Amino acid sequence: LSTEELPIGVFDSGMGGLTVLKELCQRLPDEDFIYLGDTARLPYGTKSPQTVHKYSMQAADKLMQMKVKALVIACNTAASFSLDKLATAYHPTPVYGVIEPGAEKACEKVDASGILVLATEGTVSGAAYQRSILSKNPEARIYARACPLWVTLAEQRQQDDHITWNLIEYYLQGFIENGPKTVLLGCTHFPLFSPMIREVLGEAYTVVDSAITTANHVANELELKGLLNSNGGEISFMATDGLGRFSSIGEQFLNTKIVNVSEVDL
Ligand code: DGL
Repeated sequence: LSTEELPIGVFDSGMGGLTVLKELCQRLPDEDFIYLGDTARLPYGTKSPQTVHKYSMQAADKLMQMKVKALVIACNTAASFSLDKLATAYHPTPVYGVIEPGAEKACEKVDASGILVLATEGTVSGAAYQRSILSKNPEARIYARACPLWVTLAEQRQQDDHITWNLIEYYLQGFIENGPKTVLLGCTHFPLFSPMIREVLGEAYTVVDSAITTANHVANELELKGLLNSNGGEISFMATDGLGRFSSIGEQFLNTKIVNVSEVDL
């Protein structure tokens, strides 16, 4: 196979990154993808930078062994702790994360009220979004809130009922009405709640989805590098544990049936 025909490797702590894969497939329908979800060790969002980095390196190694032409770190927590190190380790294979494209889009939209970053504990405390936003706009006012229960909520139940609405409102408290008008969804799971978040915040707010901006970024970069494929369209899946759960929950994230998942050890 020529380099352009190789698949794109995508990894995440579990099934959340399927929201990123969904956007990638939509934007790049002729590419082959290999998706790896580290379900045995999820969540990454509550773990230390060292541990997340170790896990990310192992997941990336696995995908590199399978010969991919590019790597996408779909997990916001992994990208915030490991993007630079992985990009150096695998050079010249391009490695893309979700942070930069999300931060860039938020900076295009921001006004004086600032940007609210919603993410995991690790992503908020690691402050990669904050650094990336400030490097593009040193004047930006940034607020960040960890919303760990949204991760659990997305994996457990997505019914449109009062528990879901209460949890959405709970983490947005204090930001409704006079809050920052640009809201950045900095976690793989949060696009699932995007319509509800928009409804709670109201029309004056702009919600930036880092999954969509990442897919656009990866597509543009691969085109610039002459690495686009025109003969693909296949997706294969790997998970480190619980293949049944990966498929059944993953389908809600990907919005498509998930078949042929293989179990791997990292
Ligand atoms: N994939 C993670 C992220 O985007 C959320 C789930 C987890 O904590 O592992 O940060």
